[in-house]
Amino acid sequence: MHYIISLFLVFSSSFLAFNSEQGDPMFTAEQLTKYKALIEQFSEEDIAAVDAALIYKQNCSSCHGRKGGLGLAGATNLKTSALSLEERVATVYFGKNKMQSYKEALKKDELVAVSIYLETLRK
Ligand code: HEC
Repeated sequence: MHYIISLFLVFSSSFLAFNSEQGDPMFTAEQLTKYKALIEQFSEEDIAAVDAALIYKQNCSSCHGRKGGLGLAGATNLKTSALSLEERVATVYFGKNKMQSYKEALKKDELVAVSIYLETLRK
């Protein structure tokens, strides 16, 4: 029995290590639920009132490029990124590795609007 438990522990810890090496977005279900609520806070009109293209150009294009595919400083190609809106909002809110957090730099409606805008960059 002990053998089985320790085997399980070895297996699950190597699985966790594997996951973090992949640089997966390690956002918890709780965090994603939270950002879903943040997204739902704004109506379509609120989001449409934000110039998301300008926010993107000013804050994001230096690494990601005007069209999303520049990849400077290891920036993910946003043309091929398939993250959900919740995951994008969480990435922009918390930042990830070399990408800073934008929770101070952007207002919440701007943060959500720019995360929605990223869909227009997809091929
Ligand atoms: C300093 C360069 C830099 C700037 C500026 C920047 N990013 Fe990033 N971004 C990165 C890097 C590097 C990654 C990869 C992070 C990782 O996975 O380690 C990334 C990843 C992302 C991802 C995750 C994509 C995926 O599929 O995993 C999203 C979404 C994103 N950025 C959106 C934005 C938005 C929106 C802005 C502007 C508000 C922005 N970024 C500004 C460097 C930058």
